[in-house]
Amino acid sequence: MTSDTAPAPLSQNLPYKRIMLKMSGEVLMGEGEFGLDPATVNRVADDIKAVVDQGIEVCVVVGAGNIFRGVSGAASGMDRTTADYMGMLGIVINALALQNALEHAGVQTRVQSGIRMDSICEPYIRRKAMRHMEKGRVVIFAAGTGNPYFTSDTAGALRASEMDCDAIFKGSKVDGIYSDDPAKNPEAKRYDKLSFMDVLTRDLKVMDATAISLARENNIPIIVFSVKEPGNFAKVARGEGHFTIVTN
Ligand code: GTP
Repeated sequence: MTSDTAPAPLSQNLPYKRIMLKMSGEVLMGEGEFGLDPATVNRVADDIKAVVDQGIEVCVVVGAGNIFRGVSGAASGMDRTTADYMGMLGIVINALALQNALEHAGVQTRVQSGIRMDSICEPYIRRKAMRHMEKGRVVIFAAGTGNPYFTSDTAGALRASEMDCDAIFKGSKVDGIYSDDPAKNPEAKRYDKLSFMDVLTRDLKVMDATAISLARENNIPIIVFSVKEPGNFAKVARGEGHFTIVTN
């Protein structure tokens, strides 16, 4: 077979070539109430692998709500900046757990941290992260933006903008954005499509306003999907299944 007749790489037929997966830390605790559930971390790693195997470049930002929440720390009387730094360290723990699971699944990864901790992982260097992704490595961005007062959602939107991602995949407990909490209101309606303005003006709880504004300014669609359903990430990355897409 000549190169002219060789089948196109799968990624050429896919809607997205490079994507950011943003997940809350709570996803990694599975059915538990705290910390990391190894089976769930492995399952999430397998789901990410399935997307990488489709020829899509993937980077990941994860939160730390399963370990420590900066906002709750501040609410209980701790200095906000200290609480946020503790949250950022929680993100590093989650990033290392995910890196370990991905590498056990045979996926090459690099962790880059927004706060330098050179004996543990690489520092965040945009151009280096770009090269890693071009080589098919999953880059996990740890320690948020490296600054207090910013959420991991904002870190996700920031890194997605810096990495020229085609989309932000927001892994949620449910399969999209609803008019109300579907766990409490069976009448809640799932939207297929929304605009960034809809999300901001209706204060729909998708990502915080800073993250939404960044995605909007940089014209990066946000796809909200259920990350709890095994295999769903790969399906949604192919443009199939249930999700809500937020665009301009
Ligand atoms: P290439 O440039 O494609 O060869 O990328 P590479 O990441 O394989 O090369 P590099 O020599 O930069 O890194 C080799 C290994 O060292 C990788 O596992 C990196 O994650 C790791 N590494 C690189 N820089 C640092 C660092 O500052 N701190 C830590 N802890 N690890 C690092």
